[in-house]
Amino acid sequence: MTNASPLSTFMATGRVAAVTGGARGIGRAVAETLVLAGARVAVADRDIEAAGRAAQELNAIRDDAATAVEMDVTSKASIRAASDNINRTLGSVDILVNNAGIVKNAPALDVTEDDWLSVLNVNLNGVFYCSQIFGAAMVTAGRGAIVNIASICGSVPVHPQPQAAYNSSKAGVNLLTKSLAVEWAKTGVRVNAVAPGYVSTELTLAGRSNPDWYGTWLASTPMGRLAEPGEIANAVLFLVSDAASYITGTTLMVDGGYTAI
Ligand SMILES: NC(=O)c1ccc[n+]([C@@H]2O[C@H](COP(=O)([O-])OP(=O)(O)OC[C@H]3O[C@@H](n4cnc5c(N)ncnc54)[C@H](O)[C@@H]3O)[C@@H](O)[C@H]2O)c1
Repeated sequence: MTNASPLSTFMATGRVAAVTGGARGIGRAVAETLVLAGARVAVADRDIEAAGRAAQELNAIRDDAATAVEMDVTSKASIRAASDNINRTLGSVDILVNNAGIVKNAPALDVTEDDWLSVLNVNLNGVFYCSQIFGAAMVTAGRGAIVNIASICGSVPVHPQPQAAYNSSKAGVNLLTKSLAVEWAKTGVRVNAVAPGYVSTELTLAGRSNPDWYGTWLASTPMGRLAEPGEIANAVLFLVSDAASYITGTTLMVDGGYTAI
């Protein structure tokens, strides 16, 4: 027994984290929360200008806490280059947050092959490619924590918006999370997911401007409101921290009760 406060285990002090899609929305909030919890963070995004702005804001919280890295999660070459870059600038990565994601709404009978493939490519293949590349170093090091940003849509087909590709990609993320968690359980690398309900970000802008969609979203959410990005980030911090040392292969719902009914 030590006299240390249990709250100290909820920190990320001295850790190096890579957050994909970290330039805005949930990823931006995750990056900030990890910085406030003591980590140094690579804001990895295909939008390098927005990532640069985010890193600058994070460095105002703590000097040298963040760096911007260009990365397209659909390209293994891009991920490898970003990983080398992060190794050089921040050191080896202990925490990977697979957050980059896109949505395309179309009825199943109309969805184009290009749209289907691009959603699966970013949301599912991207999570696998990043986990494989960053996970290899974590397995060798014998420690690491990965959190994948899934969605309520991976468990239930949300409505009224049609989005079969998105829902399928997130269901894939849930089982990929469990698969990697079990494969790597004895290596010291934990793999978990956070499944948000609706969150106030640019991704939900179209839906929030559509009274039919927005009304249905609120009515389907027992708490009757959307989440703020920081509320998702807090759950991510918990799962990457030592406070979650015995948790692997789980998907933590952060959904205002959406999937409880
Ligand atoms: N907003 C919600 O209601 C909600 C709900 C559940 C799950 N999610 C998931 O949370 C994650 C973040 O969503 P958000 O709402 O913050 O979205 P957002 O659109 O606000 O931000 C997404 C970020 O990902 C980046 N990105 C997109 N494609 C990329 C790629 N190929 N490579 C690298 N970066 C890429 C974008 O540049 C952007 O910075 C996504 O995986 C999304 O599916 C969001």
